[in-house]
Amino acid sequence: MVQADPVQEIETLREQLDAWNHQYYVLDEPSVPDVEYDRCMQRLLQLEEAHPELRRADSPSQRVGGQALTQFSQVSHEVPMLSLENAFSAEDLFRFNRRLLDRLGAEAEPLEFACEPKLDGIAVSLLYREGVLERGATRGDGTTGEDITHNVRTIRSIPLRLRGQGYPELLEVRGEIYMPKAGFEQLNARARERGEKTFVNPRNAAAGSLRQLDARLTAQRPLEMCCYSVGLVQGGTLPSRHSEVLARLSDWGLRINRESAVVQGIEACDAYFDALAQRRNRLAYDIDGIVFKVNDLALQQRLGFVSRAPRWAIARKFPAQEEMTQLLDVEFQVGRTGVITPVARLAPVFVGGVTVSNATLHNSDEIERLGVKVGDTVIVRRAGDVIPQIVSVVLERRPPSARAIEFPSRCPVCQSAIEREEGEAAWRCMGGLGCGAQQKAAIKHFVSRRAMDIDGLGDKLVEQLVDEGLVENVAGLYALSKEQLLTLERMGDKSADNLLAALEQSKHTSLARFVYALGIREVGEATALNLARHFGNWPALSSASETQLLQVDDVGPVVADHLLQFFDSAASMAVVEALQQAGVSWPDLEPRPPESLPLAEQVWVVTGKLESLSRDEAKARLQSLGAKVAGSVSAKTTCVVAGPGAGSKLTKANELGVKVIDEEALLALLAAHEAGN
Ligand code: IVH
Repeated sequence: MVQADPVQEIETLREQLDAWNHQYYVLDEPSVPDVEYDRCMQRLLQLEEAHPELRRADSPSQRVGGQALTQFSQVSHEVPMLSLENAFSAEDLFRFNRRLLDRLGAEAEPLEFACEPKLDGIAVSLLYREGVLERGATRGDGTTGEDITHNVRTIRSIPLRLRGQGYPELLEVRGEIYMPKAGFEQLNARARERGEKTFVNPRNAAAGSLRQLDARLTAQRPLEMCCYSVGLVQGGTLPSRHSEVLARLSDWGLRINRESAVVQGIEACDAYFDALAQRRNRLAYDIDGIVFKVNDLALQQRLGFVSRAPRWAIARKFPAQEEMTQLLDVEFQVGRTGVITPVARLAPVFVGGVTVSNATLHNSDEIERLGVKVGDTVIVRRAGDVIPQIVSVVLERRPPSARAIEFPSRCPVCQSAIEREEGEAAWRCMGGLGCGAQQKAAIKHFVSRRAMDIDGLGDKLVEQLVDEGLVENVAGLYALSKEQLLTLERMGDKSADNLLAALEQSKHTSLARFVYALGIREVGEATALNLARHFGNWPALSSASETQLLQVDDVGPVVADHLLQFFDSAASMAVVEALQQAGVSWPDLEPRPPESLPLAEQVWVVTGKLESLSRDEAKARLQSLGAKVAGSVSAKTTCVVAGPGAGSKLTKANELGVKVIDEEALLALLAAHEAGN
């Protein structure tokens, strides 16, 4: 783009960069490669450097600027920022509706409601004057908040100037700044690696990130903003329904929640609540409830306020994801690869919709970081399907009898030495397959459905077999006799026969399953499948060099190293040999160079729930046919596989005109290609 006039060129660049920002951060639709964005930004910075008189605060180059503050200044909210009344049950919601109808008259029935996820973040106010962001402030006590303009400017989903036309001269937009779950997990994972303090939950992380005097710090935090109402409006008018106001905000480049809906009547609100409660864990961000608002602004006006909350809105809350309970004890478990994990035994507590009595304490660093003792009152968090965690200790409640947690100095199962690799947080038992815990875990993995799929060999039975000394390693399974099985407690004639038949049947397997079943560190299903497809047979795989291994998709230096260690271990190879001797076999495959694979160069995305395949499995099988499997939809996506419950990715695919298929079509496609492999 060569333009002689810098004023014109700067304007064109700003518009272009604003548009890309909007597509990427507000609409979730990346439209250009990063390099192109960076090139334009560099050019803009260069021009602004050469022409300082053309610099403007609303330029996309000015997201982080200036000095760190020494303190926050105060901001008064001319229109107070209120809170919401809570509902904890469907009955509360129906009572809310009745109160509304009592005031408005029965003829108002059914009322139209706007339903919106209640984001669990920090309420903020953004003030736009003539479409330019002038001020950002926290809610504070509702009347007085703190000026956080320097920080909100770093958040890319907040436009520095509004798009389009027709906005009021003065427009105060309100919404929630939050940290998406993935960004929160990454932030905490990095903090943990560095031995730094972690954040208790995404809300605290968002609050902490906004409470920075130095905006450069905020700029590094994955924050987003979603708008849900307006405050002060001067010099312009807005539509007469809440949902239309939000649509207008969206036209002006602000982010609004795409899950929002308008419904008629309170029953529909209840149904909306149930539907979103189902999907709550799959959303990219934490929500703690659903907000229902009377949609007609004239009716809102008539209903008015009670003390600090509007009469026309209510928040129906979900079960809490954090609760207090007592740490009764800590036990140390030894996993398949020898990792020793401290597990907290808790006084049972209802949290995140289930009763929790165990939580992970991760590793010794985590125990130290939390400073937790047995007997302490702790805060337990269970968000979605994530394993319950202890996030903090309530020190004021520490009893005098609290005792320090002692990390074992030897393996708690086999008493072998324990070691911790350089740069790793985990201690490992060095007993290898001589350690009963590792033996059991390795066998459980070997027989599991995705591995050798040996029916009828559950965890309890594996433990019995090892404890009774009938089986030492996975090869021993195939040497079991019926007489031996019958010596086990609760093992009947029929069960023994069934188990032997299942063992026999499992001998016919695939190379991929076999490799996965071996339980080599870091070799999951997808990697195993890629290895099998790449090498085609066991001799080629087990004699591969590091360079050869690194050519396989998904295999980096760490995985290659674990593979080489396994192949170099005489004990491991003896087990493989014994398995083959026992008759475990698979058809060899034709090894194929990656570029000749049928889906080479293609980018696939899998979203929603699949019925017969797990998502990992779908991913692995697509990869083994040469496809790259990406996490988000862009113009480069070749095809999207969408199952029930697919959300924003499906919407985006449709908008971008990307091909979408269902699970059935995927299975047909996989079958067709895999047959020809
Ligand atoms: S409306 C007068 N809508 O919930 C209306 N609030 O408990 C007040 N919140 O401080 C707010 N999502 O921080 C509204 N869609 C939503 C919301 C929402 C989250 C927060 C907001 C407010 C708190 C009230």
